[in-house]
Amino acid sequence: MVDVGISDVAIYVPPFYLPHEELARARGVPVEKYHQGLGNFRMAVIPNWEDAVTMAANAALQLLEKTGTGPEEIQQLVVSTESGVDHSKPVASFVQGLLNIGSRCRVYEIKHACYGGTAGIVHSMDWVSRNHSADKKALVIMTDIARYAFGSPGEPTQGAGAVALLVERSPTLLSMDTSLNGVFSKDVFDFWRPTGHRVPIVDGKYSIACYLMALEGATSHFRSNCGIGKGRLLEEIDYLIYHMPYTNMAKKAHRHLIDIEYEDASPDEREQLFEETFARMVEPGLLGVREVGNIYTGSVYMGLVSLLETEGERVAGKHIGVFSYGSGCGAEFFVCKVKKDIRRIVRGLRFKEQLEKRKPVTFERYVQTYSKSWEEILYHPGEVEGFKNEFTRFVFVGFKDHKRQYL
Ligand code: CAA
Repeated sequence: MVDVGISDVAIYVPPFYLPHEELARARGVPVEKYHQGLGNFRMAVIPNWEDAVTMAANAALQLLEKTGTGPEEIQQLVVSTESGVDHSKPVASFVQGLLNIGSRCRVYEIKHACYGGTAGIVHSMDWVSRNHSADKKALVIMTDIARYAFGSPGEPTQGAGAVALLVERSPTLLSMDTSLNGVFSKDVFDFWRPTGHRVPIVDGKYSIACYLMALEGATSHFRSNCGIGKGRLLEEIDYLIYHMPYTNMAKKAHRHLIDIEYEDASPDEREQLFEETFARMVEPGLLGVREVGNIYTGSVYMGLVSLLETEGERVAGKHIGVFSYGSGCGAEFFVCKVKKDIRRIVRGLRFKEQLEKRKPVTFERYVQTYSKSWEEILYHPGEVEGFKNEFTRFVFVGFKDHKRQYL
């Protein structure tokens, strides 16, 4: 069987955040609801000189540079997003232009809420493995701005960011056999954003129920594909990463998985199993969601970056279970195997460093930033050039002849 997987990963998050203490004060909510109830502490605030395109290009450039991959080597460029900037022109084409990726490349955008990134990865892996030439490389990027209405229950779960992954044969980070993946999908209205709406419509509690239903469906499909009986799933894996719209969703998901897997165990036994396995398998992947919030398509892969950043080389040779969920809804559960030598990859992540270099904004500044319409965002290029730094390499400078302009 051809060894296919992910060779490296890079993440980009905006340089600003709103502390949840500020949001709680302004909304008259006890901060414990956000810190303990949701498990979130800071949420990324994206400035008006950045968008889904710049975040995608900023993550991807980091990835190309650290892997020494030339833009002409990329023959498939997939961008998954639910924060598209145009109904026709894909974010992927903007990224192609910014990164100077050549024309012998299939370039497209995928949408399926937060699940779109996983669809892009699985399709890219299948494309790489069935291709006649062994040197095919796909660049898969997930980029999103998670926005909710001001004052809505979803507001404290907001965030923004992009994750870029390099998919190829003989991967240096992790391998996956996509034929074993478990999937689940169903036509539901749990979270959606009708065309023209700036923020989504959310049936919050129902969305949690749909997520848990999809987790049950996808893991049971995975178990039957692999011939694993009930109660044996956790024996197959060392770490587990869930899609994380907010930190405590991972707790709800894990508790549900324990309940399904160990239905004959007593409540006390299940609680003990939950505590032990959550701390060991899930906790190391929570760094990003606590600090950044939801980044939709990239959320579960920010969990992967967090796990690698937190555990370092201890992850080498281990099996990681991944549950990807997108509202609407679509889900996939898969297991990947980490390579033995990941020292260079772990050192090159620089995620904590990016988080530490961010600056806080006030509640007023957050409201002002998120109240602007696209039409108001017209900068003189000279003004935003100064906002570039070692992580922010591309900025959005406004429109010219209805065409988005980037530097
Ligand atoms: N101290 C400590 N805890 C407190 C508290 C306090 N003072 N006040 C409330 N809490 C706890 C509650 O008990 C609750 O805990 P449990 O979930 O364990 O019961 C938690 O804080 C949240 O409180 P509420 O249930 O009252 O929260 P809410 O109704 O205000 O909203 C939400 C929660 C529905 C998740 C909302 O944030 C939301 O709509 N989010 C967007 C949708 C979403 O993230 N859905 C998740 C699944 S869908 C998905 O995954 C796709 C995606 O990315 C969007």
